[in-house]
Amino acid sequence: MPAIITSIAHYVPSDVYTNEYFEKYLDTSHEWIMERTGIAERRFAKEGANSDLIIPAAKECMEKRGIGPDDIDCIIIPTVTPDHMFPSTACVVQNKLGIKKAWGFDLSAACSGFLFALITASKLVESGAVKRLLLCGSDKMSSIVNFDDRAQAVLFGDGAGVVLIENSDDPDYGLQDFILQIDGSGGQYLKQVAGGSFKPASFETVQNKEHYIYQDGQAVFKAAVKGMADVTVEIMEKNGLRSEDIAWLVPHQANLRIITATAKRMGLEMDKVMVNIEKYGNTTAGTIPICLSEWYQSGKLKKGDKIILAGFGAGFTWGAIYFIWNL
Ligand code: UT7
Repeated sequence: MPAIITSIAHYVPSDVYTNEYFEKYLDTSHEWIMERTGIAERRFAKEGANSDLIIPAAKECMEKRGIGPDDIDCIIIPTVTPDHMFPSTACVVQNKLGIKKAWGFDLSAACSGFLFALITASKLVESGAVKRLLLCGSDKMSSIVNFDDRAQAVLFGDGAGVVLIENSDDPDYGLQDFILQIDGSGGQYLKQVAGGSFKPASFETVQNKEHYIYQDGQAVFKAAVKGMADVTVEIMEKNGLRSEDIAWLVPHQANLRIITATAKRMGLEMDKVMVNIEKYGNTTAGTIPICLSEWYQSGKLKKGDKIILAGFGAGFTWGAIYFIWNL
């Protein structure tokens, strides 16, 4: 029987950085950023690590479900900004929340992280191996952004979205279908060059700024437009879904132009697309659960809504998920 989302919450830092903030020290403008990306502002955490974004959202998520740390069996954290390379951020979060009898791990799929983790989590609960799983899509992108590079400084933000995944005996709600893909030949276009075993940290790697994000924006843009649109159309066809059947497209928030191109290929009007990129920028693994949480909280996402989640990111990684909202 399908996995369902039984609780959801999100957390974004309170410190807001507008486009005007970047205009003061970079050769950029509010107009360029809005026109090319759709981003007006983003939030950066001045202190703390990724786990500090996750903890308030995770606490709220458990509280809303009326459960506590003893009820969680497993924690999965998709992220590209773990607190440490090891131990996993799942271990850090388990310890900070006082969860006693859980296992868990971090998952590396960049901007598709929430999608890949949602399927992993769902299959664990559907098999009966896990009862209640905390899935925390979260990134502190400000820890790896090169703020001297206008081509990336304005794009990203910090934020976390946490969902509780459980099993259901009602086939009419929850996870219905998915298509996920990876293609390592795209790895060269978006990566963190140093810090792994390929190129361990050294004086040179720091001097050459190789611990920050490297992105060939145009190459990623082209692949993202095609990848996200192809996979959403494919999942619609596979499930006999017409555009009028879909209540919401929930896209990864990297660039408004990628989002509108995907909606167009699906035949969806923009009033059926969750967009909050203007407030938060690209929070990587956080974008999709933050959207879901905001739309649910405001009453716009309703029980029985057929939704398509879609994303594209470094790897390349991409995919789409067909889900019927159950809360
Ligand atoms: O989430 C993970 C996946 N990532 C993505 O999906 C990101 C995909 N890529 C993009 O969203 C876009 O490629 C960007 C937003 C990163 C860049 O937009 P673009 O329209 O592709 O611009 P571009 O890279 O082709 O650059 C055009 C010009 C360049 O100047 P020249 O060489 O033509 O003189 C850039 O230097 O715009 C310049 N530029 C800027 N100008 C003002 C780049 N960044 C800025 C900026 N302000 N912030």
